[in-house]
Amino acid sequence: MGSLFLVSSGFNATVIMTSRLRNPKQKIKPAKIESEMKRVNWVKQCRIEYGSTANIFLVFDLESKNFAIVKIATGYGPAEIGSNNCLILKEYDIMSSLDHPAILKVQAIMPVTHLGVDEEDTLLQVADQHYRGTPRLSIIMDRCSQGCLQRLMAKSLFTPTETKNYLKPIAEAMVYLKKMRIIHRDIKIENILVDKDGCPKLADFGYSIHQDDPIGSLVGSFVSLAPETFMFKVYDYQTDVWGFVTSLFCCLTGRRPFGDGPEYESAQVIRDRIITADYQKEDEPLAVELIELFDLLFNPDPTNRPTIEQILELPFFKDENFDIPLYQSPLKKHRAVPVGN
Ligand SMILES: Nc1ncnc2c1ncn2[C@@H]1O[C@H](COP(=O)(O)OP(=O)(O)O)[C@@H](O)[C@H]1O
Ligand SMILES: [Mg+2]
Repeated sequence: MGSLFLVSSGFNATVIMTSRLRNPKQKIKPAKIESEMKRVNWVKQCRIEYGSTANIFLVFDLESKNFAIVKIATGYGPAEIGSNNCLILKEYDIMSSLDHPAILKVQAIMPVTHLGVDEEDTLLQVADQHYRGTPRLSIIMDRCSQGCLQRLMAKSLFTPTETKNYLKPIAEAMVYLKKMRIIHRDIKIENILVDKDGCPKLADFGYSIHQDDPIGSLVGSFVSLAPETFMFKVYDYQTDVWGFVTSLFCCLTGRRPFGDGPEYESAQVIRDRIITADYQKEDEPLAVELIELFDLLFNPDPTNRPTIEQILELPFFKDENFDIPLYQSPLKKHRAVPVGN
């Protein structure tokens, strides 16, 4: 069963048509959309995550007999829901235009009121707790049953080979994003998911922008913000490289390079470390090979920072037998705090 949805409200009076069977970009006249509007048969399983701008639910599709993930805009009033809807819309817009094996696939976007639910209607109750007349948008996407890298690492630290297997496809996806002129702006271990087959998928394009969009706000996650974003609020592909290198550091060492976040120590201290690329190497010793690698990669000047193509040429990613001795300590269990909208 396909499903068609009309979304027309305060957030840009946008008409969206999606179908799980049709090309999501195919446009249909609004009148037709209303007459064809149907409910889809999703049964809510559980809530996976409470995000700052969206909640994530696991659902079961009665039709295809598959699990999927629903990301629903949060907010406690029309204005907040409206602005979080805008993020969801933009995220869907960008993700549905992308096609790469290491980028999470989206299936549809719809108002949450059009999600078919089970008898108890728990999904709607939870999602619409503070609903005041503004339709709350949701994105349906493929499920990555192993969760994000941060969670996987909390279970057991990665070997260099596992790190390479997870992060090389992400680097390749970043080369593709560059070709598509998309800057992700929030690359971190919480936004790299792993599917049932162990394949990594870059997710959460909520802060992404097209290179030609006006860029004026500071967004991202504090502990992985690049130096240039603090100083000039400038973003280009090199900003994503910084997020990638931060993720590589977390995977290889089991710790965050510039501290565990503003909940643990002063934001000013973390910011100063970031802008001078003073990553943590003394608290617990780092292998000299890692210091050489990260001295090269954490370059505060984006124009001198290696590009993602150059990173893919490093022996660590290129040479099958390249090995790095490790001294790891467990990553502290907390979420990287997002900044801005
Ligand atoms: N498709 C998915 N499959 C499995 N888990 C997911 C999926 N999407 C999101 N999650 C989980 O929810 C978390 C938050 O999702 P994300 O899209 O990053 O939202 P936010 O914008 O709140 O950060 C992820 O870190 C991951 O743990
Ligand atoms: Mg996220």
